[in-house]
Amino acid sequence: MSAILRAAAAPPGRVLINEEELRARVGELGASLARDYARDNPVLVGVLKGALVFMADLVRAMPIALTIDFIALSSYAGGTRSSGVVKLAADLSMPIEDRHVVIVEDIIDTGRTVSYLKRNLETRHPRSVRLCALLDKIERRDVDVEIDYLGFTIPNLFVVGYGLDHVGLYRNLPYIAALDSATSA
Ligand code: IMP
Ligand code: MG
Repeated sequence: MSAILRAAAAPPGRVLINEEELRARVGELGASLARDYARDNPVLVGVLKGALVFMADLVRAMPIALTIDFIALSSYAGGTRSSGVVKLAADLSMPIEDRHVVIVEDIIDTGRTVSYLKRNLETRHPRSVRLCALLDKIERRDVDVEIDYLGFTIPNLFVVGYGLDHVGLYRNLPYIAALDSATSA
């Protein structure tokens, strides 16, 4: 087996948030969003690729009329440190003018990615823009960000699973794990 396949098959580290905890919290977030946006037909904008799994579970916990779209941003050069540079890699598929927008993010780290995205979306004149993030690594914040709907606050560890990756791997783990011997500091 190649080194990369061996690495992906082995447990990457300590489980931080298990499947049951994820299911319960994502259910609660979905219920809050469904209550707040019941009559708004909001557009949920998932930030690819990390928010894919969270978004899939979140929308299924929201029994209301809603629309989904995706945007791809990249702020990481492939390691565990932010490059600080955010690029728009793929845009939304439709206009958001006059729509209620909810950004769905996997994790807020330095805050650079999501503040860039918020500013970018505001220029398109949506009716409102709020942020729903699964994880908040608050110790690492460089840029102030208001998180309207938050799953969990986590310590300064590099985490993988449930959509989050390390060099492209581990997105398919059904839980969140702290990657061994890697902090994001
Ligand atoms: P920020 O711009 O520093 O807030 O970085 C946010 C983006 O970096 C997230 O959307 C993730 O894609 C990625 N990221 C930050 N921390 C982690 C982590 O611990 N594991 C995996 N990806 C991370
Ligand atoms: Mg991301």
